[in-house]
Amino acid sequence: PLPVVLDGDPGLDDAVAWLLALASPDLDVRAITAVHGNVPLALTVRNAGVTLALAGADRPYHAGADRPLVRGAVTAAAVHGATGLPAQNLPDPTQPPQAEHAVAALIRHGRAQPGGLTVIATGPLTNVALAFRLAPDLPELLREVVWMGGSTALGNRTPAAEFNALADPHAARIVFDSGVPLRMVGLNVTMQCIATPERVQALRDLGTRAGAVSAELLTFYAGVYRERYGLNGGALHDPLAVAAVLWPELLEWTAMDVQVEVHEGPNFGRTTCDVYGVTGRAPNARVAVGVDDPAFFDRLLRAIATVP
Ligand code: BDR
Ligand code: CA
Repeated sequence: PLPVVLDGDPGLDDAVAWLLALASPDLDVRAITAVHGNVPLALTVRNAGVTLALAGADRPYHAGADRPLVRGAVTAAAVHGATGLPAQNLPDPTQPPQAEHAVAALIRHGRAQPGGLTVIATGPLTNVALAFRLAPDLPELLREVVWMGGSTALGNRTPAAEFNALADPHAARIVFDSGVPLRMVGLNVTMQCIATPERVQALRDLGTRAGAVSAELLTFYAGVYRERYGLNGGALHDPLAVAAVLWPELLEWTAMDVQVEVHEGPNFGRTTCDVYGVTGRAPNARVAVGVDDPAFFDRLLRAIATVP
């Protein structure tokens, strides 16, 4: 199995993404690193412990950066509920977080397996950027960073910016400029993957606690997506980033240059993607430009079905 560290800000789609990763025998989840984002850090850390308990998985989890590098904090409690995991009957964490900081853990795991570690990042990139600053050798040592964030098109949190990019544009810029092998799974594909009422029912029909909790989280999410974006359910953003590691063939990839806008103004946090190669700049990422959504959901459902 492929060694991975999951870095994110649960957040209900992060939790579903992590269930998928923890349920997949092809991934060896070495650690979970929590970052500020959808809700404040204390909650994303707790939610990491809750998600591990829900998955029946015993893995170390770590608290990371509690705020963006430069800008003021942005959260998304309106989308994810005040706690980040709006569901009843969630298990308590079975263990406390590790004393080691998330950034130190990322560096340690990266150095322990040169060329072998994949980081699946589903939140603001603050932890990853700090790790790259503290350990300049890390970008060369990682197998890959796969990030849910950005968009080849426009944003969801501002007209120009996707939430994870907007929540720490400077960190995203550090990662995109680092030379690390990088894949970006942005809104242009994730907004095609909708947890429709039929799909939510299929999760509920699994008859498991993980299925029931996933269904409950995605039902809360659907309300927001219906009202805000006129969609028939919530978008499965973060699970698609895990799927991109498990089943890269389900997405279509194009290498291109991506610039992250760090000037404050209407485009703050935009990922400007050179889709047509008009700048002549060398690609710094492979960007998802297409997705087989039915196959993705089918495999997601089958994986979650294996969680008790
Ligand atoms: C991203 O923002 C967060 O609210 C979600 O968890 C996802 O990672 C989508 O823009
Ligand atoms: Ca997230």
